[in-house]
Amino acid sequence: MPALVLLGAQWGDEGKGKATDLLGGSVDYVVRYQGGNNAGHTVVVGDQKYALHLLPSGILSPGCTPVIGNGVVVDPSVLLSELSGLNERGVDTSKLLISGNAHIITPYNVTVDKVTERFLGKRKIGTTGRGIGPTYADKINRVGIRVQDLYDESILTQKVEAALDIKNQVLTKLYNRRAIAVDQVVSELLTYADKLAPYVADTVLVLNKALEDDKVVLFEGGQGTLLDIDHGTYPFVTSSNPTAGGACTGSGVGPTKISRVIGILKAYTTRVGAGPFPTELFDEDGAALRRIGGERGVTTGRDRRCGWFDAVIARYATRVNGLTDFFLTKLDVLTGWEQIPVCVAYEIDGKRVEELPYSQTDFHHAKPVYENLPGWSEDISQAKTFADLPKNAQAYVKALEEMSGAPISAIGVGPGRDETIEINSFL
Ligand code: GDP
Ligand code: IMO
Ligand code: MG
Repeated sequence: MPALVLLGAQWGDEGKGKATDLLGGSVDYVVRYQGGNNAGHTVVVGDQKYALHLLPSGILSPGCTPVIGNGVVVDPSVLLSELSGLNERGVDTSKLLISGNAHIITPYNVTVDKVTERFLGKRKIGTTGRGIGPTYADKINRVGIRVQDLYDESILTQKVEAALDIKNQVLTKLYNRRAIAVDQVVSELLTYADKLAPYVADTVLVLNKALEDDKVVLFEGGQGTLLDIDHGTYPFVTSSNPTAGGACTGSGVGPTKISRVIGILKAYTTRVGAGPFPTELFDEDGAALRRIGGERGVTTGRDRRCGWFDAVIARYATRVNGLTDFFLTKLDVLTGWEQIPVCVAYEIDGKRVEELPYSQTDFHHAKPVYENLPGWSEDISQAKTFADLPKNAQAYVKALEEMSGAPISAIGVGPGRDETIEINSFL
């Protein structure tokens, strides 16, 4: 078993943290390949709850080496406080490896994120305000700061100068803000150098050698397919590639090494921030999903928008990621509804459409076509096998599988590690 990818099949917060942690005990490496501390991955182990932002969820499994790949953007202060928070709780973080090629979220990237959103006004994306977009923009514009730059003060200074040159013009002349001083940024960044040094590594080499030695590598996506910069609901997306291809570019591991791609799929749909969401509910059902599902952002504390399951999106995720399996989460949240509507297609300008339209305008006009599936009232949180589920819950899962285009290999019936029904083994 070489490498597996685990990623969000919707708009994020599908339960990637829980699924990764579940596999963490059986794999050798868990690798984040994109995004940054915009992510909020929850892991519940016994009575302990962890919220991870930058660290791969494998950090909670003692035998596993957590890796922050080159495709991730790293805010060093967030990373260090996440590490010390875990250390205080007795978690050993000494195995962590960070790619020297990963880009650093600088304080000015955070400023630019917030200022840009403010100036977009009604048209804002609703970002997490963590500097993600501006840091990736600097990377693409070739004025980014990388982790390795912390170890050459002269280069670091030149790079910060280059990055601030235009930004200070924009900040002062367009946004009416104060200019950011190069030496202040450089001296702050240098304070992180020694603290991060023990973790910095050539992660491309480490991961490829591990695969040569038959070790198992799990890639943990941040965000989700519909937030992908290329394949998501642009411009209401994040600035990286959570989709399966991102695991290769964000780690330096080739696609021939990946044998399985697991889509984490919530039994209903949620979204944080702005952008189209065809099955969004504004009624009591939406409020109930939010309340029962605890749908509040792990990173920003914002209420998540909630709606019914959307099979058009699930099919799309299967296609753009080449999914081999789904891990269906939060089935327990749907207990108690007499009927559960599932969106099977869209109606766009009077026409029935089975697949996600490529045109943004069409997607904004998409109205869900629902099929009602019978619900169940029995508590399913103790179910250990598929046969333990009530007949209607089994039928709901089978219907979703049929519509979504890949087998559902595991089902979450609660937030804990053991609150999972495993149908097909992932390893
Ligand atoms: P991630 O960003 O994809 O890792 O997901 P989040 O952690 O942001 O949000 C998922 C939430 O659902 C967390 O609070 C998890 O503890 C919780 N969760 C995950 N799987 C299940 C499940 O099967 N049932 C229930 N009730 N909660 C779950
Ligand atoms: P996890 O990994 C849900 C959303 C933001 C915003 C858009 C762009 O926990 O699933 P950004 O700060 O990335 O530039 O914001 O993306 N977003 C997420 N939504 N879960 C996440 O991560 C998200 N990370 C970013 O709300 O709409
Ligand atoms: Mg999350």
